Amino acid sequence: MDKKKQDELKNNAAINAAKLVQPGMKLGVGTGSTIAFFIDALGKRQKEEGLELAAVVTTSSRSKKQLESLGIKVDDLSAVDRLDLTIDGADRVAANFDGIKGGGGALTMEKNVAANSVRVVWIVDESKMVEHLGGFPLPVEVLPVSCEQNFRRFEEEGLKPAWRLQAGERFKTHYGNYIIDLNVDPIPVPHGLDDYLKKTVGVIETGLFLDMCDEVIIAHADSRIENRQK
Ligand code: 5RP
Repeated sequence: MDKKKQDELKNNAAINAAKLVQPGMKLGVGTGSTIAFFIDALGKRQKEEGLELAAVVTTSSRSKKQLESLGIKVDDLSAVDRLDLTIDGADRVAANFDGIKGGGGALTMEKNVAANSVRVVWIVDESKMVEHLGGFPLPVEVLPVSCEQNFRRFEEEGLKPAWRLQAGERFKTHYGNYIIDLNVDPIPVPHGLDDYLKKTVGVIETGLFLDMCDEVIIAHADSRIENRQK
């Protein structure tokens, strides 16, 4: 699928997701190119309908900047007890609604926002739907202090690690950590891998989003929008 077509599908899904937002909600807004379309659609609703929200929390400085540029005030997650709805993108979504996220490096905040949301909806184009998790490198955010050891252990475990790079340098997350992408494809036992990674000292968060998503809005190439609920 070419980029123009993929953007058209992302935009269709995003417009549909914006319709789920109700006045007075506490809303979580994710990160990524699909979410950039969602933020535009949200801004349009605010402008045209005067949509008022109780709170808006987001998962990256990129999304924060875009929201604020549209006049939408952004709150800190710590100031909001629980979000009613979070809309986010995803890198891969399995048939059981488990996902891989973190392609944009915002996985830690994304998981915190999702974990504190009553309802989590992902918006994707159809190319991201898979039967079993895989097809995309799994991001793992690690503390710089022990990242070399983490990388070597992952190699020994056959997890095929690669440093996430940006302009030739190690990519730094919002929290000043690094990302190691694991090239495990498919991921045979996602919960097992997540447990192992979470027990590894120095690992801050993983891009495995298991049992978190309630609904997926899928934009199909034939222009159909599918709303799949768990
Ligand atoms: C960022 C994410 C994004 O939601 C994911 O990478 C999808 O991005 P895009 O909509 O640009 O394809 O997890 O950390």
